[in-house]
Amino acid sequence: MSLFEEVASLRRTSAEEVASAATAEAVAALRVRYLGRRGALRSLFDRIRELPEEERRQAGRMLNELKDAVTAALQERLRLLAPTTRQEVLTEDLSYPGRRPRLGRLHPLTQTIDEIVATFGRLGFSLAHGPDVELAYYNFDALNTPPGYVSRSSSDTFYISDEVVLRTQTSPVQIRVMEKQPPPVQVISVGRCYRPDAVDATHCFMFHQVEGLMVGEDVTFADLKGVLTLFYREYLGPDVRVRFLPHFFPFTEPSAEVHMSCVFCQGAGCSVCGRSGWVEGAGCGMVDPNVFAAVGYDAERYTGFAFGLGIERMCMLRHRINDIRLFFENDVRFLEQF
Ligand code: DAH
Repeated sequence: MSLFEEVASLRRTSAEEVASAATAEAVAALRVRYLGRRGALRSLFDRIRELPEEERRQAGRMLNELKDAVTAALQERLRLLAPTTRQEVLTEDLSYPGRRPRLGRLHPLTQTIDEIVATFGRLGFSLAHGPDVELAYYNFDALNTPPGYVSRSSSDTFYISDEVVLRTQTSPVQIRVMEKQPPPVQVISVGRCYRPDAVDATHCFMFHQVEGLMVGEDVTFADLKGVLTLFYREYLGPDVRVRFLPHFFPFTEPSAEVHMSCVFCQGAGCSVCGRSGWVEGAGCGMVDPNVFAAVGYDAERYTGFAFGLGIERMCMLRHRINDIRLFFENDVRFLEQF
């Protein structure tokens, strides 16, 4: 075959072959076969030397045209094969397994808070709110905690200024609620509290409390015992036992510390409860007349109870969590378990 016949034949076969290439890989293989260093076109170019002088120019031009045509055809074929729209991608293989999005969930403390709010809600308590950055007046003075009192020192309280603190307890919400409304009052408040404590397995500089307050004409210590006992049975199970020990808080009189039977050993005594069978759960008591005086309530007519309990502690007991830091480290392997 003369070189001119070869060029004409290659023009035909290459067009056919490129048109029937079904994949990008097939197109790449054809590119090597025609345009590669040892490809069909190269060997034709090499044969130009064999032609008589006057035909070489024309042959060179024809071969260059063929080269351009093959290059363009390969490119066009590749463009047609490549999926260009999302629609085309999707129609390729609908059976290919998809990527499952990772589902989030509520933080264990949030779940605990939701449950606490729901339980006290069923007992008739509504939800009140107060700020984390609080006036020392609400956090201390109005709660019968005068200057000089030990918990007011800067080793127990984060001060922003002499008058402004990060609240050390949720108790100031009691004052905010009573200032705004006359009795009867029946509220809880949930939120963060802050104390300059060194971080260890049971302490953190930030933690959560739920505060409760009930004020009315015949509110008694028996009501307080009933409400807290019901609550603990609901949250920790019907077998939990609750006891009230005399204690001191400035804003209640009498005051008590609430203990519940250790859920780890059912009261037998273990390392969690320091062999006593009991763990501390809350502080509580009957609202001190000085607190009523600070909000203008008539202490002769009204009585009330209040309580404050630590939320991390509750959640740790319920789920057998042994380190408070786990709540705040955001390790998904921990969080995923709830
Ligand atoms: N605020 C107290 C604390 O942080 C807990 C507490 C004790 C709250 C007695 C009360 C209460 O409402 O009556 O330790």
